[in-house]
Amino acid sequence: MKPVTQFTLNHKYIITFPTFALLALLIFTFNNIYKYGSLKSRCSSQLLPSQTEADLIVLLWTWPFSSHFPLNQCPKPFNNPRCFFTDDRSWYLKANAVIFHHREVCSSKSQMPQIPRPEGQYWVWFNLESPKHSPNLDFMDNLINLTMSYKSDSDIFTPYGWLEKKDVSQNFTIPAKSKLVAWTISNWDPTSKRVKFYMELKNHISVEIYGREHRNVSKDKLNTVLSSYKFYLSFENSIHTDYITEKLWMNALQSGTVPVVLGPPRSIYEKFIPSDSFIHVDDFPTAKDLANYLLELDKQPLKYEQYFKWRSRLQPVGKVKWEIYYCKACLALHKAPSYRTIPSLSKWYT
Ligand SMILES: *[C@@H]1O[C@H](CO)[C@@H](O)[C@H](O)[C@H]1NC(C)=O
Ligand SMILES: *[C@@H]1O[C@H](CO)[C@@H](O)[C@H](O)[C@H]1NC(C)=O
Ligand SMILES: *[C@@H]1O[C@H](CO)[C@@H](O)[C@H](O)[C@H]1NC(C)=O
Repeated sequence: MKPVTQFTLNHKYIITFPTFALLALLIFTFNNIYKYGSLKSRCSSQLLPSQTEADLIVLLWTWPFSSHFPLNQCPKPFNNPRCFFTDDRSWYLKANAVIFHHREVCSSKSQMPQIPRPEGQYWVWFNLESPKHSPNLDFMDNLINLTMSYKSDSDIFTPYGWLEKKDVSQNFTIPAKSKLVAWTISNWDPTSKRVKFYMELKNHISVEIYGREHRNVSKDKLNTVLSSYKFYLSFENSIHTDYITEKLWMNALQSGTVPVVLGPPRSIYEKFIPSDSFIHVDDFPTAKDLANYLLELDKQPLKYEQYFKWRSRLQPVGKVKWEIYYCKACLALHKAPSYRTIPSLSKWYT
């Protein structure tokens, strides 16, 4: 009503009765729209209190690999609905869910809660390591309610990376290329499929290797160094369904190089990335054929550039922070079935 007061007090204006009535009507109408809003905003404002009541209490039984990160500030699009996260075990009896990261609890059953589980509480099993590197899975038989892993049939799907739609379609600028094939490896196992494949490949094409006992590069320079190569060998250390790691998402795609993948079959990669965004070792009968194809692409820039076409619409997310995984868990917990158990984790996690 402030404008009216100002108007009537201002003696410079002679306000006739009809003008005043019209003005009053306008202000009255405006005020009501302001107060009650449209039907849509009225509904959403009524929903707010119940959403707050529905906040779930989520206990992190341990921090993954002991790394700490900020909780309770989930960024968009993971910010709604909400959870209260804590690492304080005194919340155990009140928590709606407890998240167990496999690495810290797998050494002994005594690492799990010794107090009986409160009724209705979900125990969530979180693990991003491959089955080969996940010992003592049978400890978890008949204990777990929800799984959280890179496997796409997990209750809470937490892959190493994904593609995001760009706000506006935009041609991707391929980083300047001066070298051909790069690979990074720290765990050299001569019996692994990837090392055996490399031993054959190197007879036909030169591969520059970074990592322990090889070329030295600091972590913060890795992406820049890799971006000057045309191809990157995204070779997984063990082969399991959906096990596609930062070797694809971060080292290859985020560096702006073309991934040559060794891992699960092509059909599994195609669930997550476009078929024309990568080269699969299985596409060729021998390592020599693959080498010949890479050398051919090196001489045909237009053909090479086809591997970047998808990037005008999509961009890779490859450096996923721990908190994002927990924020995803919050979203999933709000939709979780009222009852669920995993009788045998070891049978499923293969
Ligand atoms: C992207 O590049 C193509 C081919 O060079 C061109 O036809 C198209 O207009 C470009 N699009 C944008 C958004 O710049
Ligand atoms: C690799 O680089 C790091 C830091 O840049 C250094 O501490 C380390 O000694 C180097 N290792 C080798 C084998 O050169
Ligand atoms: C979780 O799993 C346990 C063990 O199988 C079971 O006793 C409990 O009722 C389950 N809770 C929910 C909420 O599904």
